[in-house]
Amino acid sequence: MSTAPHLQPDWSPGSWRTRPSVQQPDWPDADALATALDTVRAMPPLVFAGEARSLTEQLAAAARGEAFLLVAGDCAESFEAFGADGIRDKLKVILQMSVALTYGSGVPTIKVGRMAGQFSKPRSSPTETRDGVELPSFRGDTVNDLAFEAAARRPDPQRLVRAYHQSAATLNLVRAFTKGGFADLTRVHAWNQEFVAATPEGQRYEALADEIERALRFMAACGIDLENELQMHQVDFWVAHEALLLEYEEALTRRDSLSGDWYDCSAHMLWIGERTRQPDGAHVEFLSGVQNPVGVKLGPDVTPSDAVDLCERLNPTRAPGRVVLFTRMGADRIGEALPPLMRAVGAARHPVVWACDPMHANTFTHASGYKTRRFDDIMRELHGFFDVCEAADVRPGGVHVELTGENVTECLGGSDSVLDHQLEERYETMCDPRLNAFQSLDLAFEVSALLRR
Ligand code: PEP
Ligand code: CO
Repeated sequence: MSTAPHLQPDWSPGSWRTRPSVQQPDWPDADALATALDTVRAMPPLVFAGEARSLTEQLAAAARGEAFLLVAGDCAESFEAFGADGIRDKLKVILQMSVALTYGSGVPTIKVGRMAGQFSKPRSSPTETRDGVELPSFRGDTVNDLAFEAAARRPDPQRLVRAYHQSAATLNLVRAFTKGGFADLTRVHAWNQEFVAATPEGQRYEALADEIERALRFMAACGIDLENELQMHQVDFWVAHEALLLEYEEALTRRDSLSGDWYDCSAHMLWIGERTRQPDGAHVEFLSGVQNPVGVKLGPDVTPSDAVDLCERLNPTRAPGRVVLFTRMGADRIGEALPPLMRAVGAARHPVVWACDPMHANTFTHASGYKTRRFDDIMRELHGFFDVCEAADVRPGGVHVELTGENVTECLGGSDSVLDHQLEERYETMCDPRLNAFQSLDLAFEVSALLRR
């Protein structure tokens, strides 16, 4: 079998094992881990290589300013909060956001869910101490349980198998919804949930949906055959997660029979987090050899030379659409931190998609003890991102946000405000605080205005 010409000849799905790998669990039982990985390795792929190639093509359009990327979903999916309603409601809000974005910007929205595999979490400390008791940190449902008890926190490799099955079930429902009529543009009103419709953003969405319906009636009256237009009835919906647990990702890495290239078939797109993006590290080594589109999170302390080095290692042939750089600098720092990165990556002629994660560097612990984010800080970072892009003559290529379709109270503010004292009302996240459905819609309208600028 031939190796694709642009791959390092010494790459293999397991070559990351020769590099330092951070943020990996201490599995207590090596045999149990091997058994679980054998099970995953024997499972069918979750996505098909051709799909990952289509997404790469769409991302290449985003790099040229001809499409806009929306990555959205939970910080961490959970085994317990798993069900059809949650998936449906998340899909509804992402479809609503994408309508707002596309209508405002005039370019297609590339819809990517942080779904069907977004379970594993990097942690700032390997252990957690409460009242003098020290236990391993919670690393996501793929590894251990959130409950603060010794047995619950012990890493259990059978969770990898369960994560695979939950991902398959989630992806199956997502495919059914997006290809089976739910995402039909004539249903644009039905995506507005009741609790959202009562808010100013919900009203604004209703007005937009009315306009879209009027435009559709106009086209039909002109004799345009919308019934037989596939784009009217289906959408492409992709899934992505942080490629954190390399043993799991390796077990789902398969060689494509058409191209002979390797693909990580656990998701269409994978990303490397802020804590695991060491250019010489295991995560970069692993993703350098699979042909899926890959993202890298860049925090405020990344150096321009590291940013270029990452692009070089992940995309030495400079294939457009292969690399998305998700900047997560913080509202106060993006203005000074981002321009030197854009200059360096531009000078090295890397055709990346520049996208903004306005969530992760704007998190703080509220006086009440809840980890939260202010909607205003999120918007300030997005404004900063668009300003820097404009000054650098770079196309703003996308956003990456944490949200849920439910009526939670985890982030503060938005035009139908969540107030400080309301945080405790419906604070349900497994990990980071998420925008609720109307805050998400609010954000989409604001971003669509920025795109029109
Ligand atoms: C995340 O996306 O949930 C995350 C942990 O992000 P980052 O790596 O940017 O901190
Ligand atoms: Co998060």
